[in-house]
Amino acid sequence: MKTIVSGIRSTGKLHLGNYFGALRNFIRMQNNADNRCFFFIADLHALTTHPNPAELHPNVQNVLTDFLAAGLDPEKSSIFVQSDVPEVIELYLMLNMHAYLGELEKTASFKDKARKQPENVNAGLLTYPVLMASDILIHNANEVPVGKDQEQHLEMTRRYARRFNNFYGVEYFNEPVAYSDGTEMIKIPGLDGSGKMGKSEGNCIFLSDDEKTITKKVMRALTDEGPKEMNSVKPDYIENLFTFLRVVSTPDVVEYFDEKWNNCEIRYGDLKKQLAADIVKTTLPIRERILEIQSKPEILHKAVTIGAELARESARKTVREVREIMGFKPF
Ligand code: TYM
Repeated sequence: MKTIVSGIRSTGKLHLGNYFGALRNFIRMQNNADNRCFFFIADLHALTTHPNPAELHPNVQNVLTDFLAAGLDPEKSSIFVQSDVPEVIELYLMLNMHAYLGELEKTASFKDKARKQPENVNAGLLTYPVLMASDILIHNANEVPVGKDQEQHLEMTRRYARRFNNFYGVEYFNEPVAYSDGTEMIKIPGLDGSGKMGKSEGNCIFLSDDEKTITKKVMRALTDEGPKEMNSVKPDYIENLFTFLRVVSTPDVVEYFDEKWNNCEIRYGDLKKQLAADIVKTTLPIRERILEIQSKPEILHKAVTIGAELARESARKTVREVREIMGFKPF
């Protein structure tokens, strides 16, 4: 039996990067009976950017709705809200004692956020990878389905697991690996020429977007006048369109447009139309279920109540054992 853990921050509705980088794999993994799956909404991680209290809960609801609409099933996975499992905060404190300033300051996500929000470089931002390691290690995960941007955090999780084991002379924590369906970890690009689709980049196609909105966003994608020479190298923003095609379209479609590119016959309008249609094919059924779930909010309550109970059971066991390893003893 393998233990699978992953989470998504509650910073808004989910976009295609979240879906293809993570959520799609959550669903594949829950359908394997040999997996014990924990998938959660990382609302504590979302605190680093000081969300407005009035928006905190609706944001959690949005992500949970997207989880269920995409096919996560509370009968197959433990689906929960991170803050409903407070044990993770205790493990976070303990792991913090073995996490060092130098390595935390060097983390790419920390440097990036510190640059983007110089007015709010808080300690939570610095120790973000430790909380993430706690999320994963608290269920002693073997595999963590995430997109490429989480690679370094996973590496740090393994380091903290190893450090804990070495320090206390135990073989307690597994060293979990990133999983993305046996293929390379993926990064969904933005269609505005930027390397990554992301909420803070403001270039997202959301799972809840309707067909018209998706088509409009895709048709606006950055292109140029087309290649001047046969078989030329694609500039990044064109390569991004092809990366997208490879994820959502069939191989013959990719091959067709590749050939057109190589022969300098490419018509970007055709490519974009095809891309939009293939995205819609994936997202439309999800959008329909989102609308359905929004009309029955009790489904959300039920899903996370069962999920939190299972997650807490697993988390309590870890915290009890970690306390014992560290030398805590009840009177
Ligand atoms: P977050 O909320 O930024 O993103 C959630 C998941 O979506 C993936 N993702 C992408 N994948 C491919 N292309 C993109 N453009 C793209 N954008 C986002 C991310 O890789 C991620 O898998 N720190 C995590 C949340 C977290 C977590 C955890 C994850 C907290 N604790 C424990 C796994 C295990 C984060 O901020 O992801």
